[in-house]
Amino acid sequence: MKSAFASLLLKWNKTTRQRSMPWRGEKDPYLIWLSEVILQQTRVEQGMPYFLRFKKKYPTVKHLALAKEDEVMKLWQGLGYYSRARHLHFTAQYIYRELKGKFPNTYTDIRKLKGVGDYTAAAIASFAFEENKAVVDGNVIRMLARVFGIKTPFDTTAGKKEFATIAQSLIDAEKPGIYNQAIMDFGSLVCLPQSPLCATCVFRKTCVAYNKDLIEDFPVRAKKTEIKNRYLNYLLFRNSKQLLVQKRNEKDIWKGLYELPLIETTKVTAPKSIEKEIKSRLNLAEFKLTERKAYTQMLSHRKIYFHFYEVEVADWASLKWDGAIKTPIRQICNYGFPKTIHLYLSQNSLL
Ligand code: ADE
Repeated sequence: MKSAFASLLLKWNKTTRQRSMPWRGEKDPYLIWLSEVILQQTRVEQGMPYFLRFKKKYPTVKHLALAKEDEVMKLWQGLGYYSRARHLHFTAQYIYRELKGKFPNTYTDIRKLKGVGDYTAAAIASFAFEENKAVVDGNVIRMLARVFGIKTPFDTTAGKKEFATIAQSLIDAEKPGIYNQAIMDFGSLVCLPQSPLCATCVFRKTCVAYNKDLIEDFPVRAKKTEIKNRYLNYLLFRNSKQLLVQKRNEKDIWKGLYELPLIETTKVTAPKSIEKEIKSRLNLAEFKLTERKAYTQMLSHRKIYFHFYEVEVADWASLKWDGAIKTPIRQICNYGFPKTIHLYLSQNSLL
């Protein structure tokens, strides 16, 4: 039996002009996976060109498995949350090598893949294999919380369980793929975070939040995310042909991307102190430090303070900075950089 909720949702779906999205109706689990990983934490308009570029360059899991990590990271550049790209590449290699290129075809097996959570596994299993598994993402949580007036905070263990159970109880078992796409579309087209379109909403008669005038109060969150500050002082060492770059290998933001030599500090730091730190790390006594540019960038729960400096050295041939390599300027377009470093390099005509 279809739930009343599913009937209303599917009625809305039928009567609404559907957004044209290149992954709509897609049945290839690899391409669905690719689109869903790109769309996590990314708006559809922003994710679309990335999806099309990935699909063109890596049309099958084999193509992605055989790609170089630097190339994948470069193609991902600008999307953020770079661990998604590393897991995508890692898992493509796993499917190609260990599973002989055959994408798993049940929710349980898809869920075991590295980097694939409940949401992505449900999306792939329902879209590609019509498995009866409800997707639960931010959009779904918001609309369920409002329509049913669910007060349990969604960012707690109890809340996660409750939302998953309710979502699963509502799904149309006959058409899980269409239902899941419809609920996601509804969350991003009608039940918007700010100023949802309640006036024309099919759930208006029974929606708890609407009828109690509590739209703004749902969904309920338990924790406030604490914003941490990071202070990254980047050093541009260059001559006319080369510059120093290094790869970020630590378990930290931007792992797998490239950057300039870095001095990280615990607060905004005066150039004099940066100069002192350079002296202690550089193998050359003579250099000239010039402060160039400052930017800030917000990540999901971090604020990054960037300070860029140029360091001129007389003896380029002897220059060494631990971990960094001298790279031809004309080649750095092949490397992926965090957005703000990319911006700085382009503003200096290096990219
Ligand atoms: N966001 C995440 N997955 C999506 C999908 N399949 N369609 C639209 N928006 C999405």
